[in-house]
Amino acid sequence: MLIDWQDKWLTGDTRIDTDHKDMLLIINNIHDAVEMDGSRESVLVILKSLVKLTYEHFSFEECLMIVTEYPESVAHMDEHQNLHSIANILAYNIEISNQEIVLDTINFFEDWFIDHIENMDAELGRFLKGRPNPIIQSSIG
Ligand SMILES: [Fe+2]
Ligand SMILES: [Fe+2]
Repeated sequence: MLIDWQDKWLTGDTRIDTDHKDMLLIINNIHDAVEMDGSRESVLVILKSLVKLTYEHFSFEECLMIVTEYPESVAHMDEHQNLHSIANILAYNIEISNQEIVLDTINFFEDWFIDHIENMDAELGRFLKGRPNPIIQSSIG
């Protein structure tokens, strides 16, 4: 299922929100490519860009959690690990499975992603609100 961005998913942190929008766009692109019967290679190239962005995004969030001593960081990082695993399963299915199974895996990935930004990332956003962003500060100063 293709998913349109919804502003209710904004966390208030510009970098996090920009990444989430970009990630959703790439997830939709993967979905489109599979539905239009794109070659496995071309779908894997798009997935690779999603994995790269996801890795950078999680690193950013985890850095923020560490420097702000976010109390829920362990549970949040555990969920990030789960998404890395789902991405690996997706890559495997793109390589060897039929279109139906790949689409099921993408839908599962989408559900996980939306649930994560609606819950864990929203909670992180509320925690960060009103706090100076130490990562931005250190890059300026
Ligand atoms: Fe996130
Ligand atoms: Fe997160």
